[in-house]
Amino acid sequence: MNEHANPQTLSERADELEEHIMHELGERIATKSVLFGMADGKVEMASGPALKAANPDKYFLMGADPRLPKMPDKPTLIDFFNNRFASLNHLLQSATHALKGGHNEKVVLACLLHDIGVASFIRCDHGYWGAQMIEPYVDEEVSWAVRMHQALRFFPDPSVGYEYPEMYIKYFGADYRPEPYIVAEYERARNHKYYMTSRMITVNDIYSFDPNAKVDLNDFVDIIGRNFKQPKEGLGFDNSPSSHMWRTLMWPTRFL
Ligand SMILES: [Fe+2]
Ligand SMILES: [Fe+2]
Repeated sequence: MNEHANPQTLSERADELEEHIMHELGERIATKSVLFGMADGKVEMASGPALKAANPDKYFLMGADPRLPKMPDKPTLIDFFNNRFASLNHLLQSATHALKGGHNEKVVLACLLHDIGVASFIRCDHGYWGAQMIEPYVDEEVSWAVRMHQALRFFPDPSVGYEYPEMYIKYFGADYRPEPYIVAEYERARNHKYYMTSRMITVNDIYSFDPNAKVDLNDFVDIIGRNFKQPKEGLGFDNSPSSHMWRTLMWPTRFL
């Protein structure tokens, strides 16, 4: 398209780009990371000097975003559930199924946490992201199970009545095949000592998409208390290998 065919001037386009990657909050400017823009099919970012030149009287946001629910100084997992997870219903339903099915607390916790990657962060490879977030705080069986449900959900296990989900045929088409790295992960996971824990995530997963189900996070507070090592400094401030992930969830629009 040439410039005559596009009625938008260069400076209008620049303004639009700026609007797309920043948000004015009074004295502060919240910026979007590149990843947020990629979801709209754009690989772009504003340079610091350009943003500052366009907003000489403002500073960039370097802390909490006032548009988001306020987090306490020493946040717990429950605080993240309540303030940063976009949907609790599916997680609580999965954990409720596991509890009613008589599973042990590791399985229940794994079901409760299995999709926190999706609920708070990103869909792609969510099992890996979610496992990484919780790894310092849970038994290795729980984080392993969360990581591997990423692969196991694509493969049936008739021994426990798990079939390839009908939903995936609707979502991805009948000809969808998992990536080779997912197939390889499944092959490795199959004979692992924690295989069945992860498999139970997938079993409880498929019955947990009822939007009208009555579920309550309070039913799991004790299980979290016994099985999730809440750091006394607060999640994000405890210098663990995943502290930065919790901080990023807390402050997703911090400039740096
Ligand atoms: Fe999942
Ligand atoms: Fe799920």
